[in-house]
Amino acid sequence: MKKVLIIGSGGREHALSWKLSQSGNVSRVFVAPGNGGTSTNVPIRTDDIDALIKYAKQNECLTIVGPEKPLESGIVNRFQNEGLPIFGPSKEAAMIETSKVWAKEFMKRNRIPTADFGAFSDPKEGRAFAASMDFNCVIKADGLADGKGVFLCSNSGEVSNAIDRIMIKKEFGGSGNKILVEERLVGIEASYIVITDGTSCLPMGVAQDHKRIYDLDQGPNTGGMGAYSPVPMVGPGLEEEIKSEIISRTVAAMRSEGVPFSGFLYAGLMITEKGPYVIEFNARMGDPEAQVIIPRMESDLYPYIEASVAGNLSSLQPIKWSKDSAVCVVLASEGYPSKFQSDEPVKLPKLDGKRNIIFHSGTKLADGLLLTSGGRVMGATALGPTLEDAANSAYLIADQVEWRSKYMRKDIARAAIEFLMST
Ligand code: AMP
Ligand code: GLY
Repeated sequence: MKKVLIIGSGGREHALSWKLSQSGNVSRVFVAPGNGGTSTNVPIRTDDIDALIKYAKQNECLTIVGPEKPLESGIVNRFQNEGLPIFGPSKEAAMIETSKVWAKEFMKRNRIPTADFGAFSDPKEGRAFAASMDFNCVIKADGLADGKGVFLCSNSGEVSNAIDRIMIKKEFGGSGNKILVEERLVGIEASYIVITDGTSCLPMGVAQDHKRIYDLDQGPNTGGMGAYSPVPMVGPGLEEEIKSEIISRTVAAMRSEGVPFSGFLYAGLMITEKGPYVIEFNARMGDPEAQVIIPRMESDLYPYIEASVAGNLSSLQPIKWSKDSAVCVVLASEGYPSKFQSDEPVKLPKLDGKRNIIFHSGTKLADGLLLTSGGRVMGATALGPTLEDAANSAYLIADQVEWRSKYMRKDIARAAIEFLMST
């Protein structure tokens, strides 16, 4: 029996720990630092790599990295130097997420479909390139910005404002030393996620996130206000195309360029009239995508994690998936993604914890009391025989959770349900 240490504190990490706790191969699941919903929390911050190494060594754990920041800091390289097993990509391979400029240039030289772009370290040149696109473009900070360094522009004023905030005011710090100016794509967004050992890969599923704070995709971007899986607009033919044209090509090119990628690889896609294009790659599982992908997984997750670390994923059977759909409605605190209240007591309904689950993110336990501690507080998640059933059940859970400033979107999965009705 194995012990596992999961690094992170969000809903994604709760979903991973929920799944691995059910594994016949795993005796203990530790989460560092975890949240009010995860059970065996270890009070070590995700940036304290020395302390994490010490803990994993002492407890003989296999470590799984949830979020991108520790990957960028080279946590995987550090663990590997110590001979410790760790799931996730190296610092160099994680560049596919941590530098948008690197990722775009990688895609261009490997003919992976993505929007046309220019990369600039001079604001004036960036603006001139945007002008050549009639200012109908997307401007992005190069580095990590918690999903907030992306500006969709349609006129000169919006372009100037975006460049000013990223490069002059440096709202995202050093992440804004360079910018990307991209062609603006139109289509349906979907996240396609695989597990890979650097050579072979197995699909983890397709999900759609709802990034804007308000219904009908209005208002500012957030970390994700809800998700569902599978995505009916992505049928088997399209999935094959994504696998061969995007995923397999990416994994092979990373290896041939000397930066083999192992871990969860996430392709954020725009399904356009001309086929699927990559908007971005993430070097990890998505959040809240994990909360709808993991509950649909019928196979034990642990052997796949272990095989990704050992480099022998091809020796395993394909992962078994439930035919059910899953929907996760994120419950946030009013005001998020700007200012919001914390430390509000939360009341939870009693659930079966199998098909109806609450994955915590911004919660903490204080003297046995469950309190809010972040903008996105938890995800009400349900499985159902249809997407509509799953959505109804998820909203039933969401309605039963109580705290003073609870806020949620009311239209998670609605467009997909309407798509299914119309076909
Ligand atoms: P990113 O952080 O790169 O995933 O971008 C955040 C969001 O901006 C995406 O989820 C899309 O909704 C939007 N976006 C990014 N790039 C483009 C693009 N080239 N065309 C259209 N929308 C985009
Ligand atoms: N749900 C988007 C992300 O995890 O980046």
